[in-house]
Amino acid sequence: MTAAQVPAGPPGPVDFLLSGIGQLVTCDPALGEGPLGVVERAAVAAAGGRVVYAGPERAMPDLEMAGDVHAFGAGGNAVVPGFVDAHTHLVFAGERADEFAARLRGVGYEEALAAGGGINRTVRDTRAATDAELRRATLDRLGLAVAYGTTTLEAKSGYGLTVTDERRSLEALAWAAEHSPVEVVPTFLGAHLIPEEFADDRDGYLELLEHEMLPACAPLATFVDAFCDRGALTVAESRRVLQAGARHGLRGKLHANELGSTGGAALAAELGCVSADHLLFLDDAEAKALACAGTVAVLLPGTSFLLRTGRAAPVEVLREAGVILALGTDCNPGTCYCESMQLVIALACVHGGLTPEEAVLAATDGAARAVGRGGQVGRLSPGAACDLVLLAGRSYLDLAYHLGVNLAGAVVKGGTVVKGGTVAAGERA
Ligand code: NIG
Ligand code: FE
Repeated sequence: MTAAQVPAGPPGPVDFLLSGIGQLVTCDPALGEGPLGVVERAAVAAAGGRVVYAGPERAMPDLEMAGDVHAFGAGGNAVVPGFVDAHTHLVFAGERADEFAARLRGVGYEEALAAGGGINRTVRDTRAATDAELRRATLDRLGLAVAYGTTTLEAKSGYGLTVTDERRSLEALAWAAEHSPVEVVPTFLGAHLIPEEFADDRDGYLELLEHEMLPACAPLATFVDAFCDRGALTVAESRRVLQAGARHGLRGKLHANELGSTGGAALAAELGCVSADHLLFLDDAEAKALACAGTVAVLLPGTSFLLRTGRAAPVEVLREAGVILALGTDCNPGTCYCESMQLVIALACVHGGLTPEEAVLAATDGAARAVGRGGQVGRLSPGAACDLVLLAGRSYLDLAYHLGVNLAGAVVKGGTVVKGGTVAAGERA
């Protein structure tokens, strides 16, 4: 689904009704208990894809029902907003399982990158793939994401790194989005790396990006991003890319402070980026700058866990500064090949130090803010998209506690069931 396909307009009669919810997590504190706005024994009603009621079942007003209303029961299980995956690299060909295995034996990520592996290798595979292969691979990954409860997802180009291949990547993404119920927010990441053929002419690549790639790609993207880190782009190069993107109407995001304290977080704040992502190395001043700029921190605990450095984003520093937190899978063939936001929530708690409430909020409302869709998706309040996951479990705590199984019993996007269906009263997976 693309943003243009999201239903709009005034709500008509109720065409979607989910009752018998044991625990409803609205992610709207005004609607229920605590930061997650939890309501017990609840119902959700929607019309034209948008929520018209989310609250106690017994307090639901007498709403006009459509003749063909889709009504079903949650069997006392828990319901959470559809997950928003705030950061993925979904468009790529080829895999790097051997690199992963080498990392388990102690070969570092930056070592593989410097030796022509890593991103460079996926760039070669992506350039060699046909359009059909790229589309199919992207659509398959979207299929997995929705099966695990993701209903909105940000996805980047960045494995093409030529005018043709970056454009082709964004076209494959648009095609996959049209054939999937997941709402896709596209990001141009032509600045993922300076490609090998420009190793001695970094400026030449940035010239190409600015004057040819951006005009070709900006119409297919919402955001511009750069990998501002050791072994990738410098702060000055990233600033240039983001400023050029802004001239093409693209809002900024930044891969920042993943591999070292490289100044990316400060740049994201300086440029008023919508998000700064990774942030494994972050001090108080940088966190305060992000908070002041309203830049959301996108945490990617799957990546930090799999890189096995023992390091996670400093959540106390972020909390103390009052930075809004978001979560993403970072789904990519190198550092984290994972489409499951459920696993990311669990890792955010057990490896990243977030509370379950912070993690669920970051995977929904926070991630929506990180992709420019705050208030429209990621929360179940009147007027927001009726995107939800009916869990095979009684509580949102199961997302961190019941590990490694798919708890998405049913998934609803815009009031339409896109996975699963009725969970009979009393049934538990
Ligand atoms: O977010 N950091 C840059 N990009 C990805 C890794 C991409 C790759 O290794 O293919 C990331 O971790
Ligand atoms: Fe990334």
